[in-house]
Amino acid sequence: MRSLLHFLAFQLAFIALILGGTGALTANSSPTSNCRCLYGQNCWPNDAAFAILSQKLSQPLVHPTPVASPCYTSSTSSSCAAVQSRYADAIWRSDQPGAYEFQNFETYIQPNGTVDACYLNITLGYPCKQGSIPPLGVDARTPADVQAALSFATTYNLKLVVKNTGHDYQGRSAGRGEFMLWTHHMKNLVYSETFVPTGGPSNTTFKAITTGAGDQWGDVYQFSSQRGRMLVGPFALGGSLGTAGGVPQGGGISTFSPKYGLVTDNILQFTVVLANGSIVTANSIQNTDLFWALRGGGPSTFGIVLTVTYKTYPSFPVSIATFSAVLGTNDISQKVVTEAVKNIVRFTDKGWGGFMYIIKPTLFSGLWIAPNTSQSELAASLDPFGAFLYQTTGGQGGVYYNTSTSYYSWYDQTFLGTGGSQVTGNIKIASRLLSRELAQSNASGIAAKILSTSSVFTQFDMILGGAVNTIAASSVAANPSFRHSVASVVINEIWADGTNSSVIAQQIENLKKNTDLIDGISTDSGSYMNQGSLYERDFKKTFFGSNYPALRAIKQKYDPDSLLVVANGVGSDEWDKDVVCRTS
Ligand SMILES: Cc1cc2nc3c(=O)[nH]c(=O)nc-3n(C[C@H](O)[C@H](O)[C@H](O)COP(=O)(O)OP(=O)(O)OC[C@H]3O[C@@H](n4cnc5c(N)ncnc54)[C@H](O)[C@@H]3O)c2cc1C
Ligand SMILES: *[C@@H]1O[C@H](CO)[C@@H](O)[C@H](O)[C@H]1NC(C)=O
Ligand SMILES: *[C@@H]1O[C@H](CO)[C@@H](O)[C@H](O)[C@H]1NC(C)=O
Ligand SMILES: *[C@@H]1O[C@H](CO)[C@@H](O)[C@H](O)[C@H]1NC(C)=O
Ligand SMILES: *[C@@H]1O[C@H](CO)[C@@H](O)[C@H](O)[C@H]1NC(C)=O
Ligand SMILES: *[C@@H]1O[C@H](CO)[C@@H](O)[C@H](O)[C@H]1NC(C)=O
Ligand SMILES: *[C@@H]1O[C@H](CO)[C@@H](O)[C@H](O)[C@H]1NC(C)=O
Ligand SMILES: *[C@@H]1O[C@H](CO)[C@@H](O)[C@H](O)[C@H]1NC(C)=O
Ligand SMILES: *[C@@H]1O[C@H](CO)[C@@H](O)[C@H](O)[C@H]1NC(C)=O
Repeated sequence: MRSLLHFLAFQLAFIALILGGTGALTANSSPTSNCRCLYGQNCWPNDAAFAILSQKLSQPLVHPTPVASPCYTSSTSSSCAAVQSRYADAIWRSDQPGAYEFQNFETYIQPNGTVDACYLNITLGYPCKQGSIPPLGVDARTPADVQAALSFATTYNLKLVVKNTGHDYQGRSAGRGEFMLWTHHMKNLVYSETFVPTGGPSNTTFKAITTGAGDQWGDVYQFSSQRGRMLVGPFALGGSLGTAGGVPQGGGISTFSPKYGLVTDNILQFTVVLANGSIVTANSIQNTDLFWALRGGGPSTFGIVLTVTYKTYPSFPVSIATFSAVLGTNDISQKVVTEAVKNIVRFTDKGWGGFMYIIKPTLFSGLWIAPNTSQSELAASLDPFGAFLYQTTGGQGGVYYNTSTSYYSWYDQTFLGTGGSQVTGNIKIASRLLSRELAQSNASGIAAKILSTSSVFTQFDMILGGAVNTIAASSVAANPSFRHSVASVVINEIWADGTNSSVIAQQIENLKKNTDLIDGISTDSGSYMNQGSLYERDFKKTFFGSNYPALRAIKQKYDPDSLLVVANGVGSDEWDKDVVCRTS
C-alpha cells in the first residue's frame, strides 16, 4: 500500500514537472525539491518522526502559539488578563516562544490580502490565526539539542528558522510553517581575567566575558558591572536584546562604538555548530574565514553560534547632555537639523555617542553621552549648540547636563528601571548610514533630504564615527560603509492592529519612496542590516558592499546546502521572497 502511494505520488510529481516545464527530473526530484518543507504539507514529518527526535532532546518539543490566544478562549480568564498586563513588555515577549517584539512579524498576509493574525483586541472581530509564528520547535539547552535540530531539518528538508529574542526588524527569526530552533534558554555567562583564544599564544590574555546563545545584554551588563568591567553592546529598554544572534552577526552599534568600535570589532572568539553538525571554534587563529564572516556578515547564515567571547573594558563615569527644541516652521527645522548634523563628526571623534529624534511636525530631541568626560568639558562643547537652539526657536529649545558615577548606574536608571515596556506594535523600518564626508561638507543638504520624507519619526543613532572610522574595514565582515559613516538614520512606517492589507501595502510604498529620498545621505547607499528594509533595490550593495562575493564563498564552504538562509541575507537572492523555494 505504502509503495503504491509512493509510486502514485511520484507519477503525479513527474506530470507536474512536465506541465510546469521546469528543470530536469533526477532520481531525487519531486515537485517540491526546490522548496523547503512547511507545516501542513504532505512532506511534513509524522508524529513517529517527531517522537524519535524528542528522544534526542533534553526538553520536550515546543508548540509556539500566539500570545493572545487565551483571550479567544475566554476574554475574562486570568490567563488572558496575564497576557494583557505584560503584552508590551519586551523581556516577557522574549520569554514566549510564540511572541516577537513587533507584532506584524507574527502575522501573515494571504495572497488574497487577508491578514492572518491573533490581535489582543478581540473586539476587532478577527479569528485568532497562527500567522507567521512557527508552529513547532526545539527548545535548545545543549549543543546536542542544536545538532539534533539541524540534523532533523536536513533529513526532512524543513525550513529552519532560528529564534533568539525575536527582536529582528526584518522578521528574520519568524516564518510561517517553519521549524524553529529556539536558543533563548542557552544561558551561560563566564568571566575570565586571563582569556586566551583557543590555539593562541598564552602570553596574550584578555579580560573577557563569554556569553551563551540565549544570554541577553541586560544580564551581561549587570554581570560585568559586578566585576568592575563594561562591554560594547546595544541599549534597549529592559536589556532584552540577545548577545549572540543578530547584534554581533549583523555588526552591532553601541553608544560606546565611537570609543571602542562596533560590537563585532570587540569579539575574540565564537563556538559554532555548522550546518553539518560539526562544532568548531572560530577566532583569529583557527577558522579565520568563518570568524571574519560571523563578525557582521549576517545572522543565521554561516552556522549556529553557541557562544561569543567579548573583550571587556574598565568601567567609567559618563556625562550626559540632553537637548530639545520645538520646530515651529520649516525654516527652523532646516536650521536646527543642519546645526545638529554639523556636530556629529566632531563629537563622535571625541568618543561620544548620541541619539537624536525628529517627530514631525514639531518635536526635536536628543542626547550626547560622553564616556569618562566631566560635565564641564561636555558643556564647553555643547553650550554653543544650546545657545543656537534657544535663539533659533525663540526660547523653546536648549541643552541640559547631568553626570552619572558609572556608565552602569546611568544605564540601569535609563533602561532597566522602566519595567521593560517598549513594544511599538506594527512597524517596518529603513535606514541609511550618514556619510562622514557629507556631514562635514553639506550638513544643510543632509538636513533637507531628511526633512523631505513623509516619515513621521526619524531617528539618528550618532554612534559611528570615532573608532568605528579608524578600525580597518577589512578586519571584519561588517558593512564597509560603517567605516566612513558617522550615524545610522532610521525612518519607519507604523500601523494599528486590524489595518487592512491595502493600507499596509501603501505604507510599504511610502517606506520605499522615503528610502529613495534619504539614499543620498550615504555615498554608497549603505545601511545597517539590523535597521534594514525588506524592500531595498540592491540588498547586496546596501547591506554588504564589496564583501558580498567573499561572504557568498564562505557560506558555500560552511553551509553548502543552504540550510540557513534569511531574508536579505547572503545567498537569499537565490530563493523566493519567503525564502522557502529556490529560484536559481
Ligand atoms: C528596542 C530595540 C533596540 C535596538 N537597539 C539596538 C542597538 O542599540 N544596537 C544595535 O546594533 N541594534 C539594535 N537593535 C537591532 C538589533 O540589532 C536587531 O533587532 C537584532 O536582529 C536582534 O538580534 P536578536 O538575536 O536579539 O533577535 P532575533 O530576532 O531572535 O534574531 C535575529 C537574527 O539572528 C539569528 N540568530 C539568533 N540567534 C542565532 C544564533 N545563535 N546563531 C545564528 N543565528 C542566530 C536569527 O535567526 C535572526 O536571523 C535594536 C532592536 C530593538 C527592537
Ligand atoms: C483568502 O485566502 C485564505 C487562505 O486561502 C482563505 O482562508 C480566506 O477565506 C480567503 N479570504 C477571502 C476573503 O477570499
Ligand atoms: C478594540 O477595537 C475596537 C474596535 O475597533 C475599538 O473600538 C477599541 O477602541 C479597541 N480597544 C483598544 C483597547 O484598543
Ligand atoms: C609572546 O611570546 C612570543 C613568543 O615567545 C613573543 O614573540 C611575543 O612578543 C610575546 N608577546 C607578548 C605580548 O608578550
Ligand atoms: C578615564 O580618564 C582617566 C583620567 O583622565 C584616565 O586615567 C583613564 O584611563 C580613563 N579611562 C578610560 C576607560 O578611558
Ligand atoms: C540627573 O541624574 C540624577 C541621577 O544620576 C537623576 O536623579 C536626576 O533626575 C537627573 N537630572 C536630570 C535633570 O535629568
Ligand atoms: C548639498 O546637498 C543638496 C541636497 O542634496 C544639493 O542640492 C547641493 O548641491 C549640495 N551642495 C554641495 C555644495 O554639494
Ligand atoms: C482598507 O482600509 C481603508 C482605511 O480604513 C479603507 O479606506 C479601505 O476601503 C479598506 N480597503 C479594503 C480593501 O477593505
Ligand atoms: C562539516 O563541514 C566542515 C566545513 O565545511 C568540514 O570541515 C567538516 O569536515 C564537515 N564535517 C563532517 C562530519 O562532515
